[in-house]
Amino acid sequence: MADNPVEHLSEAEAAEELGRLAAEIAQHDYRYNTEDAPIISDAAYDALRRRNLAIEQRFPHLRREDSPSNKVGASVSEKFGKVTHVVPMLSLDNAFHDSDVEDFVGRIRRFLKLASDAKIGITAEPKIDGLSLSLRYELGRLVTAATRGDGTTGENVTLNARTVASIPNVLSDSPPDVLEVRGEVYMSHADFAALNERQAKEGKQIFANPRNAAAGSLRQLDATITASRPLQFFAYAWGEVSEMPASTQMGMVDAFRSYGFRVNPLMQRFETVEALVKHYHQIEEQRALLGYDIDGVVYKVDDLALQQRLGFVSRSPRWAIAHKFPAEQAMTILRGIDIQVGRTGALTPVARLEPVTVGGVVVTNVTLHNEDYIKGIGQNDQPIREGRDLRVGDTVVVQRAGDVIPQIVDIVADKPRGPSAYVFPDTCPACGSHAVREEGEAVRRCTGGLICPAQAVERIRHFVSRNAFDIEGLGEKQVEFFFKSEDPALHIGTPADIFTLKKRQANSLTKLENIDGFGATSVKKLYEAIDDRREVSLSRFIFALGIRHVGEVNAKRLAKAYRSYEALANAAMAAVPPKDRADKGNDAWRELNEVEGIGSIVAEALVDFYAEEHNREALAALLAEVTPLDEEVKTVSDSPVVGKTIVFTGSLERMSRDEAKAMAERYGAKTAGSVSKKTDLVVAGPGAGSKLTQAQSLGIEVIDEDAWFTLVGA
Ligand code: IVH
Repeated sequence: MADNPVEHLSEAEAAEELGRLAAEIAQHDYRYNTEDAPIISDAAYDALRRRNLAIEQRFPHLRREDSPSNKVGASVSEKFGKVTHVVPMLSLDNAFHDSDVEDFVGRIRRFLKLASDAKIGITAEPKIDGLSLSLRYELGRLVTAATRGDGTTGENVTLNARTVASIPNVLSDSPPDVLEVRGEVYMSHADFAALNERQAKEGKQIFANPRNAAAGSLRQLDATITASRPLQFFAYAWGEVSEMPASTQMGMVDAFRSYGFRVNPLMQRFETVEALVKHYHQIEEQRALLGYDIDGVVYKVDDLALQQRLGFVSRSPRWAIAHKFPAEQAMTILRGIDIQVGRTGALTPVARLEPVTVGGVVVTNVTLHNEDYIKGIGQNDQPIREGRDLRVGDTVVVQRAGDVIPQIVDIVADKPRGPSAYVFPDTCPACGSHAVREEGEAVRRCTGGLICPAQAVERIRHFVSRNAFDIEGLGEKQVEFFFKSEDPALHIGTPADIFTLKKRQANSLTKLENIDGFGATSVKKLYEAIDDRREVSLSRFIFALGIRHVGEVNAKRLAKAYRSYEALANAAMAAVPPKDRADKGNDAWRELNEVEGIGSIVAEALVDFYAEEHNREALAALLAEVTPLDEEVKTVSDSPVVGKTIVFTGSLERMSRDEAKAMAERYGAKTAGSVSKKTDLVVAGPGAGSKLTQAQSLGIEVIDEDAWFTLVGA
């Protein structure tokens, strides 16, 4: 933004700047309202609007037709149907200082020609930082849900709104025939953090704050995605109402509660400015503890007859105002970027900041999500921070988005920049193994697997889990205990250590049976469980290694194809992936790719795994203790399903539908898409519908997915 104070602008400069601001604000409105992906902070956006307004106030005749001051929000996205709001959804004026509240009440008294000390009932409630939604009920049933849009026309998000638990589909009590309830859809801090964690794990979009997450979740063309996102709703206003159930703001909100809506428990009615301001500061103190974002307190004249008389000025009511909290932003210096390794091997960069107080809390670390985020590249290659990369030494703006989750929202452009671009490491800081980023993924991962201490506990737990080595007596607590123990007779850092535990214990003075939580019997049982697994099927062995993309099904495929551990390991070590499009890789690579169901992604993961010396060492140690049994090949004629017709229905958890079909065919069966008298067997997963009913009525045998695996001996 231009630094020239508004008072110093010439008329020509003012005209030019108003044009630039109109375009810039419109662009930010679009990013915010339509794409749910703002590229500047709220404070920076407010500053642009304030400057626009200040210039307009100094040069009223220069006010443009497309002035941002005339608009509430951006145009409606094309993706959704449109809904016209019979009663427009307007905005609120802002107050920033306690004295602005005094002015607000003073204006009301003057407008109503009341005495300067006349008492006026005014409600005060939190301003929820989400997105507003208008819900239309006819005869007590939800018929339309619409976003605010530009205030006059919003987007039809009815199907999405129906999936929100706190939005009733049918109202209780006796609501008016036509009732439009308005309120805020939002996401709690805890749900926001969990969602972003899930998104990051899946390499998907990271939301900047709970409000964007709520907006992005509600505005989904596929309402099942909305359903999977934990949204909540507070009712606080209304549009068209056929018969008003109350004559005050409080009374209306009480009525909403009786119809089944959630209303904010912090709403109260006061009669003096002092009491309003006191409540504001009390809410401000509780802000960080509420568990959801609020950005101020809204005051509303309680008496609806007075609201009616007060009416509106341009885009906001005269009877209400939003008393905003000061922006929780602060400047500090980015001192360093550290890399943390998660339990799944994901490398997450963390900014180390010169400690700074933001909204009363000292912030020293903030997550930087992934390497693209540092480079200034967002989802779909959209620029973030206008495409500027973060460098150690930069002066940055830190915001406690969502009050509790701090983040860097910008780089201060007029401060000296850090000297050099940050180079994201391609080795794991925890174990030194290569860290690779697969195509289409935002996350770089450590390939150290078994030997990476950051991943070890999770890997060992996977190794002993039911479908892998299935060792009872090694639960989460025990694995953590053994891993953390520094006693050489107790430490379990790699799978091989599990199998040497008994031997190490025999020569040691620290006896496991004397340690809290382990009795003599449980230790004996543990050793038995371990010894029982010194021979294990090849497919379990492969699955237990926790190689990326090698789940149970792929482990079985590889076991069947290579039949012995040596054959598989030799193939994975000999395989050379193609260097470019023209190259097809060497013979071993092509053979690996030709294994049914194994594609280049899995093949590459295997090659990467064996390319790490650490992994080969861990495997050698394990193979000194454990023998993977050669896979017996079942000939098709052995299979109990030869010649049978099988229908798969419902959702399958261990394999995709295509895999299921391929598997059935491999065992000599045919598959069909519908159930008829010719069907011999139905494999039904959860959620199976008409096919299952049909099978039952025809008396056809129905089994579940696990039983299918057992039946064919897979
Ligand atoms: S009353 C006529 N009450 O703030 C105005 N708005 O800046 C009716 N908001 O679009 C709005 N919490 O999205 C009202 N307790 C509250 C609110 C609230 C959040 C939002 C709402 C509105 C915006 C206005």
